[in-house]
Amino acid sequence: MTWRIDLLRTPDEIEAVLAIERASFTNPWTREMYLAELENRGVSFCYLARDEAGQVVGFCSFWRILDELHINNLAVAPGARRGGAGTALLQHVLRQGTKLGARRATLEVRRSNEVARTLYERFGFTVAGVRRAYYTHPVEDALVLWREARDDG
Ligand SMILES: CC(C)(COP(=O)(O)OP(=O)(O)OC[C@H]1O[C@@H](n2cnc3c(N)ncnc32)[C@H](O)[C@@H]1OP(=O)(O)O)[C@@H](O)C(=O)NCCC(=O)NCCS
Repeated sequence: MTWRIDLLRTPDEIEAVLAIERASFTNPWTREMYLAELENRGVSFCYLARDEAGQVVGFCSFWRILDELHINNLAVAPGARRGGAGTALLQHVLRQGTKLGARRATLEVRRSNEVARTLYERFGFTVAGVRRAYYTHPVEDALVLWREARDDG
Protein backbone atom coordinates (compact mmCIF):
# COMPACT_ATOMS: atom_id res chain seq x y z
CA MET A 1 0.00 0.00 0.00
CA THR A 2 1.33 3.47 -0.83
CA TRP A 3 0.24 6.57 1.00
CA ARG A 4 0.48 10.13 -0.21
CA ILE A 5 1.46 12.47 2.57
CA ASP A 6 0.94 16.19 2.40
CA LEU A 7 0.14 19.17 4.59
CA LEU A 8 -3.32 20.08 5.78
CA ARG A 9 -3.65 23.54 4.24
CA THR A 10 -7.31 24.57 4.19
CA PRO A 11 -10.25 24.53 6.65
CA ASP A 12 -12.29 22.22 4.40
CA GLU A 13 -9.73 19.44 4.97
CA ILE A 14 -10.36 19.51 8.72
CA GLU A 15 -13.58 17.46 8.56
CA ALA A 16 -11.72 14.31 7.50
CA VAL A 17 -9.30 14.76 10.40
CA LEU A 18 -12.17 15.21 12.87
CA ALA A 19 -13.82 11.96 11.72
CA ILE A 20 -10.59 10.07 12.44
CA GLU A 21 -10.15 11.95 15.74
CA ARG A 22 -13.63 10.90 16.88
CA ALA A 23 -13.05 7.28 15.88
CA SER A 24 -9.68 7.17 17.67
CA PHE A 25 -9.76 9.26 20.85
CA THR A 26 -12.11 9.64 23.82
CA ASN A 27 -11.31 13.39 24.01
CA PRO A 28 -11.10 14.34 20.34
CA TRP A 29 -9.82 17.75 19.26
CA THR A 30 -12.50 20.04 17.85
CA ARG A 31 -12.83 21.98 14.62
CA GLU A 32 -12.03 25.21 16.50
CA MET A 33 -8.80 23.70 17.79
CA TYR A 34 -7.70 22.69 14.29
CA LEU A 35 -8.68 26.10 12.89
CA ALA A 36 -6.47 27.72 15.54
CA GLU A 37 -3.64 25.36 14.57
CA LEU A 38 -3.99 26.41 10.92
CA GLU A 39 -3.49 30.03 11.97
CA ASN A 40 -0.35 29.21 13.91
CA ARG A 41 1.88 29.09 10.85
CA GLY A 42 5.52 28.24 11.21
CA VAL A 43 4.87 26.42 14.49
CA SER A 44 1.90 24.13 13.95
CA PHE A 45 1.84 21.50 11.19
CA CYS A 46 -0.60 18.72 10.37
CA TYR A 47 0.23 16.10 7.75
CA LEU A 48 -2.45 13.97 6.09
CA ALA A 49 -2.00 10.48 4.67
CA ARG A 50 -4.19 9.73 1.65
CA ASP A 51 -4.86 6.47 -0.12
CA GLU A 52 -4.66 6.05 -3.89
CA ALA A 53 -8.22 7.37 -4.25
CA GLY A 54 -7.25 10.56 -2.40
CA GLN A 55 -9.20 9.64 0.72
CA VAL A 56 -7.67 10.88 3.98
CA VAL A 57 -6.85 7.78 6.08
CA GLY A 58 -4.69 9.31 8.79
CA PHE A 59 -2.95 12.37 10.12
CA CYS A 60 -0.14 13.49 12.37
CA SER A 61 0.08 16.95 13.88
CA PHE A 62 3.02 18.56 15.60
CA TRP A 63 4.55 21.81 16.79
CA ARG A 64 8.09 22.80 16.01
CA ILE A 65 9.37 24.76 19.01
CA LEU A 66 12.98 25.90 18.55
CA ASP A 67 14.93 22.64 18.12
CA GLU A 68 12.14 20.41 19.44
CA LEU A 69 9.35 18.59 17.67
CA HIS A 70 6.24 18.12 19.82
CA ILE A 71 3.96 15.49 18.29
CA ASN A 72 0.39 16.24 19.37
CA ASN A 73 -1.71 13.67 17.56
CA LEU A 74 -1.23 10.63 15.38
CA ALA A 75 -4.17 8.55 14.23
CA VAL A 76 -5.26 6.32 11.38
CA ALA A 77 -8.89 5.53 10.49
CA PRO A 78 -9.85 2.15 12.02
CA GLY A 79 -10.49 0.57 8.61
CA ALA A 80 -7.04 1.57 7.34
CA ARG A 81 -4.97 0.49 10.33
CA ARG A 82 -2.15 -2.04 10.12
CA GLY A 83 -1.44 -0.98 6.54
CA GLY A 84 1.62 1.12 7.23
CA ALA A 85 -0.01 4.56 7.21
CA GLY A 86 0.97 5.25 10.84
CA THR A 87 4.56 4.33 10.10
CA ALA A 88 4.60 6.43 6.92
CA LEU A 89 3.19 9.46 8.75
CA LEU A 90 5.61 9.22 11.64
CA GLN A 91 8.59 8.80 9.33
CA HIS A 92 7.50 11.77 7.24
CA VAL A 93 6.91 14.00 10.25
CA LEU A 94 10.27 13.15 11.82
CA ARG A 95 12.03 13.92 8.53
CA GLN A 96 10.15 17.19 8.19
CA GLY A 97 11.09 18.04 11.75
CA THR A 98 14.75 17.53 10.97
CA LYS A 99 14.42 19.78 7.91
CA LEU A 100 12.85 22.43 10.12
CA GLY A 101 15.80 22.23 12.51
CA ALA A 102 14.39 19.99 15.23
CA ARG A 103 17.05 17.97 17.04
CA ARG A 104 14.74 16.05 19.37
CA ALA A 105 11.16 14.85 19.32
CA THR A 106 8.70 14.25 22.13
CA LEU A 107 5.15 13.02 22.65
CA GLU A 108 2.82 11.61 25.26
CA VAL A 109 1.11 8.25 25.07
CA ARG A 110 -1.31 6.36 27.30
CA ARG A 111 0.49 3.74 29.32
CA SER A 112 -1.90 1.03 28.03
CA ASN A 113 -1.52 1.96 24.35
CA GLU A 114 0.71 -0.96 23.40
CA VAL A 115 0.15 -0.51 19.66
CA ALA A 116 1.33 3.10 19.61
CA ARG A 117 4.15 2.40 22.09
CA THR A 118 5.48 -0.37 19.83
CA LEU A 119 5.40 1.98 16.86
CA TYR A 120 7.22 4.76 18.73
CA GLU A 121 9.85 2.36 20.12
CA ARG A 122 10.64 1.27 16.58
CA PHE A 123 11.49 4.87 15.78
CA GLY A 124 13.81 5.14 18.76
CA PHE A 125 11.53 6.86 21.27
CA THR A 126 12.22 5.96 24.89
CA VAL A 127 10.31 6.68 28.09
CA ALA A 128 11.69 9.76 29.84
CA GLY A 129 8.98 10.39 32.42
CA VAL A 130 5.42 9.84 33.58
CA ARG A 131 2.58 12.34 34.00
CA ARG A 132 0.29 10.80 36.60
CA ALA A 133 -3.42 10.67 35.70
CA TYR A 134 -2.78 12.97 32.74
CA TYR A 135 -5.59 11.55 30.62
CA THR A 136 -9.32 11.38 31.33
CA HIS A 137 -12.03 9.05 29.95
CA PRO A 138 -10.56 6.87 31.37
CA VAL A 139 -8.09 8.40 33.79
CA GLU A 140 -4.64 7.09 32.97
CA ASP A 141 -0.97 8.00 33.22
CA ALA A 142 0.83 9.46 30.24
CA LEU A 143 4.28 8.23 29.40
CA VAL A 144 6.48 11.04 28.14
CA LEU A 145 8.64 9.80 25.29
CA TRP A 146 11.68 11.49 23.77
CA ARG A 147 13.82 10.73 20.79
CA GLU A 148 17.17 12.29 19.96
CA ALA A 149 17.96 13.33 16.39
CA ARG A 150 19.09 10.56 14.09
CA ASP A 151 19.26 9.96 10.37
CA ASP A 152 15.80 9.01 9.09
CA GLY A 153 16.95 8.72 5.48
C1 LIG B 1 -1.21 3.92 16.50
C2 LIG B 1 -1.75 4.00 15.08
C3 LIG B 1 -1.64 5.42 14.56
C4 LIG B 1 -0.88 3.08 14.18
O1 LIG B 1 -1.29 3.27 12.84
P1 LIG B 1 -1.22 2.09 11.78
O2 LIG B 1 -1.39 2.68 10.42
O3 LIG B 1 -2.10 0.97 12.17
O4 LIG B 1 0.30 1.65 11.97
P2 LIG B 1 1.18 0.71 11.03
O5 LIG B 1 0.31 -0.10 10.11
O6 LIG B 1 2.23 1.55 10.40
O7 LIG B 1 1.80 -0.28 12.11
C5 LIG B 1 3.05 0.02 12.70
C6 LIG B 1 3.35 -0.99 13.81
O8 LIG B 1 2.53 -0.72 14.94
C7 LIG B 1 2.23 -1.97 15.57
N1 LIG B 1 0.82 -2.26 15.43
C8 LIG B 1 -0.09 -1.63 14.65
N2 LIG B 1 -1.31 -2.16 14.85
C9 LIG B 1 -1.17 -3.13 15.77
C10 LIG B 1 -2.06 -4.03 16.40
N3 LIG B 1 -3.38 -4.03 16.14
N4 LIG B 1 -1.56 -4.89 17.31
C11 LIG B 1 -0.24 -4.91 17.61
N5 LIG B 1 0.66 -4.07 17.04
C12 LIG B 1 0.20 -3.21 16.14
C13 LIG B 1 3.00 -3.03 14.84
O9 LIG B 1 4.28 -3.13 15.42
C14 LIG B 1 3.04 -2.42 13.46
O10 LIG B 1 4.05 -2.91 12.65
P3 LIG B 1 3.81 -4.27 11.80
O11 LIG B 1 2.48 -4.14 11.10
O12 LIG B 1 4.97 -4.31 10.87
O13 LIG B 1 3.81 -5.36 12.82
C15 LIG B 1 -3.22 3.47 14.99
O14 LIG B 1 -3.28 2.20 15.60
C16 LIG B 1 -4.23 4.40 15.63
O15 LIG B 1 -4.72 5.34 15.01
N6 LIG B 1 -4.55 4.16 16.91
C17 LIG B 1 -5.53 4.98 17.63
C18 LIG B 1 -5.00 6.37 17.93
C19 LIG B 1 -3.74 6.29 18.76
O16 LIG B 1 -3.62 5.52 19.70
N7 LIG B 1 -2.77 7.16 18.40
C20 LIG B 1 -1.54 7.31 19.14
C21 LIG B 1 -1.75 8.32 20.23
S1 LIG B 1 -0.25 8.63 21.11
